[in-house]
Amino acid sequence: MQHMDEKSLRHRLEELRQQIREHNYRYYVLNAPLVSDAEYDALMRELREIEAAHPDWVTPDSPTQRAGAPPAEGFAKVRHPAPILSLANAFSEQEVRAWYARLLKLDSRVAESGFVVEPKIDGLTVVLHYREGRLTQAATRGDGEVGEDITANVRTIKAVPLRIPLTAEGLLPPPSLVVRGEAFMFVHDFAALNEALRQAGERTYLNPRNTAAGSLRQLDPRVTAARPLTVLTYQIVHAAGGEVPATQWETLTYLRALGFPVAEMARRFASLDEALQYALSWAERRETLPYEIDGIVIKLDDLRLAADLGFVGKDPRGAIALKFPAQEVTTTLEDIRVNVGRTGVLTPYAVLQPVEIGGVRVERATLHNFDYIAEKDIRIGDRVLVKRAGEVIPYVIGPVTAARSGAERPFVPPETCPSCGQPVEHFPGEVAWYCVNAACPAQRIRRLEHFVSRGAMDIRGLGIKIVEQLVQAGLVEDVADLYFLQKEDLLGLEGFAEKKADNLLSAIAASRQQPLPRLLNGLGIRGVGETMAAELAAHYPSLDALMTATREELEALEGVGPQIAAAIVDWFSREHNRRLLDKLKAAGVWPQASPPAAVAAARPLEGLTFVITGTLPTMSRAEAKAFIQERGGRVSGSVSRQTDFLVVGEKPGAKLAKARALGVRILDEDGLRALADRR
Ligand code: IVH
Repeated sequence: MQHMDEKSLRHRLEELRQQIREHNYRYYVLNAPLVSDAEYDALMRELREIEAAHPDWVTPDSPTQRAGAPPAEGFAKVRHPAPILSLANAFSEQEVRAWYARLLKLDSRVAESGFVVEPKIDGLTVVLHYREGRLTQAATRGDGEVGEDITANVRTIKAVPLRIPLTAEGLLPPPSLVVRGEAFMFVHDFAALNEALRQAGERTYLNPRNTAAGSLRQLDPRVTAARPLTVLTYQIVHAAGGEVPATQWETLTYLRALGFPVAEMARRFASLDEALQYALSWAERRETLPYEIDGIVIKLDDLRLAADLGFVGKDPRGAIALKFPAQEVTTTLEDIRVNVGRTGVLTPYAVLQPVEIGGVRVERATLHNFDYIAEKDIRIGDRVLVKRAGEVIPYVIGPVTAARSGAERPFVPPETCPSCGQPVEHFPGEVAWYCVNAACPAQRIRRLEHFVSRGAMDIRGLGIKIVEQLVQAGLVEDVADLYFLQKEDLLGLEGFAEKKADNLLSAIAASRQQPLPRLLNGLGIRGVGETMAAELAAHYPSLDALMTATREELEALEGVGPQIAAAIVDWFSREHNRRLLDKLKAAGVWPQASPPAAVAAARPLEGLTFVITGTLPTMSRAEAKAFIQERGGRVSGSVSRQTDFLVVGEKPGAKLAKARALGVRILDEDGLRALADRR
């Protein structure tokens, strides 16, 4: 860059910002990236370098400015340009029909309006202000009249455009534009965040909504930046100096065209019957959405009519939320028991009087950790509020203190391990309590369970029951013992005949061929899961090499922080782990890393199912099929919930509509190639 004159450097700066904006948009809004993470990082690095050399060129809408500003003292108040209204609720189809009947009586034009059906996202309202296309302010809903200024935090959300239009050809927004949306976390991002915290021994979060709320109201935007927040927009609150659409459906289309993320499942219908049918269909498949919803919103499409109808209190008449059966119910907490994990962490769980939550019978729920029980004052015998949603494990929200009889008993955390009876320990700075006895049977069972699991050595037919049998019979103490099992050992166990014993032994023997990352993951080193194991194996061709790695070397790797580096070195330095490795080597379980990129690149589409529709620009149907299959993907003839991607060409068939209805991700030929390159 030192060779460039100031003018070309300026030009390059703008070009980089433009490209990064587009990549952000493709990645966070369209879910269809064009470049690899590494290419993206290189662009960001170049931009940072230019900005570092010319600090006066930094503008608030530069993509580098999402990292999070320094902490604020408090939040300033923001008056909304128009009231930020709420929504009336309906709890059944009948109540929605009654709402419509009332509207028809108020205004006969209602009969001509169509309806827009949208998800009622369980998040927090954000009000986004744009001046001349630049994000100037973002506020919470507050009381609907005045909210709080959370601009610095919202800037860190990559799905929120900092600047419109995104590209030179993009649609120009009105000079003053205020857009409303919902900020939330995808369920999978939430789960990953919690997993990372769990691995680091830190406190985990309760649910995506509370985590999103807490993240947005952070005084330190750097904390917000580290949380995987996103938004979906659905309303233009105010616009001046330009025309905006007069219907809800066009509003969604318009917002999308400006570069805002909009819910893909939203649909327009001519009649209430169709709208209701679609809305109700989501009650059973709400879990197929990547975010949590607490209902479906049905809106009159004609926004002028909706405005004329006015509101009742804070609820506009022109829209209604059809709420789904609660995913929270109360039941009795019969007992609190403690589970011992493979790292020795003690996790309390609730034994509940069985209840149905959202159609599923629940009798166990997590209580997170001992501090949580104390903070919430949860007692044995309490009526408790329990929540189950999506991929989140059912958990106890808290006690219903008003229902107490006085017979409830406070819970006393155990001082000894419930499995082996050894004293439990606590490390400074961590919430968790540990059983540190490596010979603890519960830990042995969990470690073995992890070792044989799908993401690790994948030993089929070796389920939890057999693992328990093997440990209890004293046949297996550590994972290496599996490879020394004899047929006679197994025949002595209940339920084992010749055939079952043979099958198990050959499955165990076959796992010797598993590649290094699987073994590394299986060892259960703190902080080393599937992703980290792959990263380590890419740099260290064998366990022999990894065993001698220093903390400094490890810290230089992608994603390896000081804690994980220390945990790895510590693991390999321990005498009993060394002995375990010797045993594994003696058993012939000593894989060498395969050439890193080759394996990954050979099967980048592994585990994904594709359906193809329409004529693709350069590939024939057979070529596209071969392209996917050669890279490890599966091609199926029809769209279902199992479909990961629909590849769409010219003149797509009915598959496209079905894919949209099921929320299946859609790609074109370029998108398919990009996906294969990215992974
Ligand atoms: S429309 C006039 N649409 O639900 C506009 N709200 O219980 C009134 N919400 O405060 C709101 N998804 O935060 C609307 N697609 C959606 C929504 C939605 C979630 C939230 C919103 C509102 C609350 C009302």
